[in-house]
Amino acid sequence: MSEMSAEQQERETALVERVVASFAGTPDARTKNLVEALTRHLHAFLRETRLTEAEWRQAVEFLTAVGHITDDRRQEFILLSDVLGASMQTITINNRAYADATEATVFGPFFVEGSPEVGLGGDVAGGARGEPCWVEGTVTDTDGKPVPGARLEVWEADADGRYDVQYGDDRVAGRGHLHTDDQGRYRFWAVTPTPYPIPDDGPVGELLRATGRSSMRASHLHLMVQAEGYRTLVTHVFPRGDAYLDSDSVFGVRESLVVDVHQQIPTTPTPDGRQVAGPWARIGFDIVLAPAAAQPGSAGG
Ligand code: BEZ
Ligand code: FE
Repeated sequence: MSEMSAEQQERETALVERVVASFAGTPDARTKNLVEALTRHLHAFLRETRLTEAEWRQAVEFLTAVGHITDDRRQEFILLSDVLGASMQTITINNRAYADATEATVFGPFFVEGSPEVGLGGDVAGGARGEPCWVEGTVTDTDGKPVPGARLEVWEADADGRYDVQYGDDRVAGRGHLHTDDQGRYRFWAVTPTPYPIPDDGPVGELLRATGRSSMRASHLHLMVQAEGYRTLVTHVFPRGDAYLDSDSVFGVRESLVVDVHQQIPTTPTPDGRQVAGPWARIGFDIVLAPAAAQPGSAGG
């Protein structure tokens, strides 16, 4: 960049200060803080990159395209936030590390309210294609005390890398919920998670291609765990050894959520006597919930 004159610098900084000052009368202190910080960071970006007018127009066109493809079923703005790591950073800020509580990760766009109750040992796959996978573990608090009656929501893509809602028919598969028993234990059948791309046929996909990034998510199973008095946990289980653990397109992988998948040969008896035709797998994943009080700003984090 060529040397900038004092006059030019003065014009640029004066503009930042004028915009910040324009928000001085904002009645709500938090809103004031947010718009002032947004102004400072946005102008810092413009000034650091020396954004051209053509680039400014391209950015406007990009955001317009993000808006146009967004509707009740597709949220391209959240996807943009996801691939920029903004979703994961917000989750990190708001789910403070608390003792050994299980870490949170992205929610993703494929959760659906009203999943079927499958019961303990039930089958979440519901006909989804894939290798049967037995998942079991406990839900405890940070003192190791079992949490009975915790609600576990489970959702996942099938072996073709698609969620039920992506088929455009009315199928319900790869999702369900159950509750822990009186010792905080849970178990269910699912399908072994496989990798799949995030929706990449829109502007966010273009951004990934233009920057040489992959749209693939590391294989995972989604879990949401809710219990009275505890912080709701939205997380994933990631199979160890997956090819995309280091390049997950939405930065959702946490080392503590990576688990061994124990492959079983077809003749190995299943834990509940279920007859499976081919190979199957099992995963163990113990979940630790933080107290509800462990919110941002509270002690213990
Ligand atoms: C998913 O886990 O399915 C997902 C998460 C973030 C963006 C897109 C998909
Ligand atoms: Fe997912």
